[in-house]
Amino acid sequence: MTALKVSFTEQSGEVKTLSALTGQTLMEVGRDNGVAGILADCGGSCSCATCHVYVDPEWFKITGGPDQVETEVLELLGDIALPNSRLSCQIRLSPELDGITVTVAPPP
Ligand code: FES
Repeated sequence: MTALKVSFTEQSGEVKTLSALTGQTLMEVGRDNGVAGILADCGGSCSCATCHVYVDPEWFKITGGPDQVETEVLELLGDIALPNSRLSCQIRLSPELDGITVTVAPPP
């Protein structure tokens, strides 16, 4: 496993830059470090949307978009889902995501 940095901007505007390891999901890093708004009620099974983030556009090119199941969950969010929305439990960290920056979405 390789050490990485990830940054979450909370709804308050506070930025939390955190250490992470490859193989973790972005949600796990946020939840385990108390990032506001990353509640992860379903534990990462892509069904609750309480791990919703907006991936900064340059990083979205690397994460790619959601798969079909994730898209269906995001569609339930209505207007708060944006083109760069992802469920952070579905983003598994790899070396190319070192430095990824995301903004926590408003609650579903
Ligand atoms: S933790 Fe529930 S959808 Fe991501």
